Amino acid sequence: MLSYPLLLLPVLSVLAHPPPPSFEPGPPGSPSSWPQGPPSAWPHGPPSQGPPHNGPYGPPGNGLQQGGKVCVVESAGSNDSAPAIIDALDKCGRNTGSDQGLVVFKNETYNVKSVMNTTGLRNVKIEHYGTLLWDTNIPYWLNHSLPVGYQNQSSAWLFGGENVHWNGFGYGTLDGNGQVWYDFINGTNNYPGRPHQITITGTDDSVFEGIRFVQSQMWTMTIIHSNNVLMENIYVNSTDLEHPVGFEFSSLNTDGADTIYADNITFRGWTVDNGDDSISTKANSTNILIENCDFYTGLGVAVGSIGQYKDRFEIVENVTVRNVSINHMRYGVYFKTWTGVSSGYPPNGGGAGLGYAANLTFEDFHFNNASGLFAVTQCTSYNSATGNCDTSEFNIRDVTIKNWYGTTTSDVVASIQCSAASPCTGMVIENVSGLLDTVNGTVPAQYLCDSVVSPTSFNCTGAPYGENNRK
Ligand SMILES: *[C@@H]1O[C@H](CO)[C@@H](O)[C@H](O)[C@H]1NC(C)=O
Ligand SMILES: *[C@@H]1O[C@H](CO)[C@@H](O)[C@H](O)[C@H]1NC(C)=O
Ligand SMILES: *[C@@H]1O[C@H](CO)[C@@H](O)[C@H](O)[C@H]1NC(C)=O
Ligand SMILES: *[C@@H]1O[C@H](CO)[C@@H](O)[C@H](O)[C@H]1NC(C)=O
Ligand SMILES: *[C@@H]1O[C@H](CO)[C@@H](O)[C@H](O)[C@H]1NC(C)=O
Ligand SMILES: *[C@@H]1O[C@H](CO)[C@@H](O)[C@H](O)[C@H]1NC(C)=O
Ligand SMILES: *[C@@H]1O[C@H](CO)[C@@H](O)[C@H](O)[C@H]1NC(C)=O
Ligand SMILES: *[C@@H]1O[C@H](CO)[C@@H](O)[C@H](O)[C@H]1NC(C)=O
Ligand SMILES: *[C@@H]1O[C@H](CO)[C@@H](O)[C@H](O)[C@H]1NC(C)=O
Ligand SMILES: *[C@@H]1O[C@H](CO)[C@@H](O)[C@H](O)[C@H]1NC(C)=O
Ligand SMILES: *[C@@H]1O[C@H](CO)[C@@H](O)[C@H](O)[C@H]1NC(C)=O
Ligand SMILES: *[C@@H]1O[C@H](CO)[C@@H](O)[C@H](O)[C@H]1NC(C)=O
Repeated sequence: MLSYPLLLLPVLSVLAHPPPPSFEPGPPGSPSSWPQGPPSAWPHGPPSQGPPHNGPYGPPGNGLQQGGKVCVVESAGSNDSAPAIIDALDKCGRNTGSDQGLVVFKNETYNVKSVMNTTGLRNVKIEHYGTLLWDTNIPYWLNHSLPVGYQNQSSAWLFGGENVHWNGFGYGTLDGNGQVWYDFINGTNNYPGRPHQITITGTDDSVFEGIRFVQSQMWTMTIIHSNNVLMENIYVNSTDLEHPVGFEFSSLNTDGADTIYADNITFRGWTVDNGDDSISTKANSTNILIENCDFYTGLGVAVGSIGQYKDRFEIVENVTVRNVSINHMRYGVYFKTWTGVSSGYPPNGGGAGLGYAANLTFEDFHFNNASGLFAVTQCTSYNSATGNCDTSEFNIRDVTIKNWYGTTTSDVVASIQCSAASPCTGMVIENVSGLLDTVNGTVPAQYLCDSVVSPTSFNCTGAPYGENNRK
């Protein structure tokens, strides 16, 4: 279970959703009760609209020739469409030379009732006009979900390749039917076998744009073993509609996106409304840019958790997050590493990992009623055991926070609990005077530090409140 030491803050105001945007009706016959999100939900202008029909498909990018085959995926109606999807990607998604194939999802609902492994694609364009709707047979998924390759996590769909260009035109949707999972796990963190919606694995030089991911079963997507990927104008919304959303989130573990063993990944123009990390950079995430995004309800932009595997050296380096709005959330940004003491096994146990997080910048953040702003903890431990907060040898350094403004219910700008075994250096916090603590009507003034060496542009005012062992 997660524990949130600042739960005494006025939670209710934080829990309220922003006023719902007006929705367009979903595709007829869709068994999903989920409203189709409108292009107007895009904060930075609507994604470019595709043709309002299934073709012609326009010229291929990347200097490729559209000499590859064209596959239009036929829905199996109420039956499982997974075999047809796999077949289309096999036939038209594996192209040689400079040929580019095309796979089209029509403006229909495709029920997905079995796991898919469509990796190793090459030179393929995917035009996605409909909805992929995952089936709710929980015993099936618990038995069959495929390994992600990290933290013993598992997935409903392994997808990947090189020169993949997937466009949802602001409409094409992956719907994980997650409510059954939010009910089923009943607050259990990292329920074994609970599937992530999609794992983008072994993917290079690719673009994903205008796709909607709603009600994901667990993490929405992990980008793993991948390089040079642009993910633009993506809408993610995993909201528990039956239980009140609180910091013991029932849409727990519904991360918007996670990067692992990933280099040069850009997230631009995302909207994420969920109950966990908006976007999280985990092991070996390098050269990550997150910009022009709106995040709602969740925990914040996360670095980690990391340091979970004993003696393994992992890094997070060169991360820029800028021009982001943080609405009704727990934090703007938080870092979490495991302690230096190994106990249990992933996903819920571990520790004693090595490495560092270095050169990360978080600038131009607009807060709207956040319960906290910036936090670092190196106390993550098996089943949230407490203690050993000064043992992690994972180092955090060269982190810059600047130009943060807007409203919060906290007087604490930063709670930075670093490990004495590897103190934090190069911490910079500047130009945060545009923040307003709406409880006191003052500019937040507290900087709570442990093992923070020579902070720049701020002075520590005290020690962090107790030990903070969020995972
Ligand atoms: C997410 O979905 C919930 C439930 O439908 C809705 O109230 C909320 O407005 C949506 N969030 C965004 C950012 O669209
Ligand atoms: C898909 O179908 C719905 C319902 O008929 C319609 O409103 C929508 O415009 C269609 N979308 C596209 C991209 O064709
Ligand atoms: C669905 O499966 C049933 C049983 O195998 C079959 O009779 C039916 O034709 C299938 N429907 C479609 C649309 O494939
Ligand atoms: C997925 O497919 C690839 C290529 O066929 C294969 O190498 C890999 O082992 C498969 N992964 C799983 C988890 O089945
Ligand atoms: C899941 O696995 C168990 C044990 O292997 C088996 O008894 C059960 O039939 C499986 N259930 C499904 C839905 O596949
Ligand atoms: C959910 O968890 C709570 C607290 O652990 C427990 O009281 C309740 O019975 C559980 N509900 C279900 C449906 O298992
Ligand atoms: C990073 O990825 C982008 C595509 O998103 C590509 O245009 C760029 O060349 C890549 N940069 C490097 C250094 O490979
Ligand atoms: C992670 O990055 C570190 C530092 O570059 C490297 O030593 C390690 O091999 C990488 N791990 C994996 C699994 O790629
Ligand atoms: C970080 O960025 C610098 C400058 O672009 C580059 O030299 C360095 O290799 C990058 N680090 C990693 C781990 O990619
Ligand atoms: C830090 O990262 C930024 C981009 O993320 C890069 O431009 C810069 O060169 C990096 N600095 C170092 C010292 O690696
Ligand atoms: C209000 O201000 C007081 C004194 O500066 C501080 O101790 C307290 O934490 C603040 N409370 C909130 C909720 O900001
Ligand atoms: C930090 O404290 C020092 C010594 O009291 C003071 O000179 C400096 O102005 C303070 N810096 C900030 C950013 O408040």
